[in-house]
Amino acid sequence: MKSAISWILVLFLTVSVLNNCLNNSVKRDIREKTAFMDKLRTLYSSGNSSKWPKPVLDPESLSTFSEIGHLPEISFPPENPYSAEKELLGKTLFFDPRLSKSEQIACASCHDPELGWCDNRTSSFGHNRQLGVRNAMSIINATYAKDLFWDGRVRSLEEQSQKPIEDQKEMSGHMDLATGKIAGIKGYHILFEKAFGDKTVTKDRISKAIATFERTVRSSASKFDKFIDGKADLYTDDELMGLHLFRTKAQCMNCHNSGYFSNNTFENVGTSLLGEKGEDLGRYLITKNMGDAGKFRVPGLREVSRTGPYFHNGSMATLQEVIEFYSKGNPEYSQKRQTIHEGILLKSEKSGMVRMLELSGKEIEQIEAFLKTLSSKVERVTIPELPK
Ligand code: HEC
Ligand code: HEC
Repeated sequence: MKSAISWILVLFLTVSVLNNCLNNSVKRDIREKTAFMDKLRTLYSSGNSSKWPKPVLDPESLSTFSEIGHLPEISFPPENPYSAEKELLGKTLFFDPRLSKSEQIACASCHDPELGWCDNRTSSFGHNRQLGVRNAMSIINATYAKDLFWDGRVRSLEEQSQKPIEDQKEMSGHMDLATGKIAGIKGYHILFEKAFGDKTVTKDRISKAIATFERTVRSSASKFDKFIDGKADLYTDDELMGLHLFRTKAQCMNCHNSGYFSNNTFENVGTSLLGEKGEDLGRYLITKNMGDAGKFRVPGLREVSRTGPYFHNGSMATLQEVIEFYSKGNPEYSQKRQTIHEGILLKSEKSGMVRMLELSGKEIEQIEAFLKTLSSKVERVTIPELPK
């Protein structure tokens, strides 16, 4: 009897000692984690990015790397300087469907300010409700893109604005016809005169005015901008950890960097579907360099929570899907990565910077939470009255 009691006592003592140890180690873990998060919070909200933890980068990304941060000021080219009158004219043209053949489709039909300046469709409906092949890009912050469109086929906003007017699937018009139509609208004369000094309507002036307006469409300060400027409490722990993962373990910064969250290069993340329905050769179509088959422009990520669906073909509906895709390193089937185009065998070579990341479910959520902090408050855009 006595020995049974002492055994119970020994057992009881052992369990309580073990329990105590476990409790202490859990407490220590929590303390360490809290200290780590506090440290990250202090560094990232210090207002000085040189104090941030070092990013995890591949050697091949170094030449195009610059730290994430605020967007630079807008700059206007000397051959098309800013004026408020030119901006107003450009804005009016941007919302005017009379630039299209059917007089039904304006730039704003596919670049709607209420839909993040795109159309939130996989691909866009254009003239006669024809479906285009690519996902409409948002025009917000396009002023920071070096080359425009998913394949970079255009180098300036001035040159760009004529393309959709003439695209048979988009506005299906001709720039000269559109120019003639605008010139015939009396109410435009005064707007051209204020913007350019006389009322002559030319396609060059139309392009310049639209480009001027587009340059002004820029993100205002987001939660991210305010947090890194010192508002340390603005971020939740998940958003903070998401920022840290974006710069380190998830290696997004290899391509999505600078204040624009793009290094303005073309990369192959294995989305071109060569040899399959929907194949898109991307940058190759412009350069004809075999190494460019399947490359697309690295898009900026500001406002990204408002501009889905994602990728050049709108193939991903949510940010979670996109991050999961990167986490798995986009396992493409090798036999499907080639195609014969105009008699030339082309292969898609996925970038070595897209690899298995093995992010946990929690980490994927945290990166998504961080990406959402890159959106600024939706500003109400007053639609200009169309001249008669
Ligand atoms: C029918 C829908 C549609 C219409 C109308 C349209 N766009 Fe687009 N826009 C698109 C699509 C789709 C893309 C991407 C095309 C590509 O990459 O090949 C795009 C891309 C752009 C880009 C490139 C953004 C970037 O970051 O590279 C700009 C700028 C732009 N459009 C401005 C305009 C202007 C200005 C007009 C009116 C003159 C206009 N769009 C009319 C669908 C449209
Ligand atoms: C090797 C360069 C590279 C790396 C690394 C990379 N991206 Fe991308 N990202 C791209 C390119 C190129 C596209 C466009 C692909 C397409 O349209 O088919 C893209 C598209 C996206 C889009 C869609 C944006 C839109 O407007 O459609 C999101 C979101 C995104 N990336 C987030 C991330 C995140 C998060 C990471 C890190 C986990 C990451 N990227 C890592 C190059 C990269």
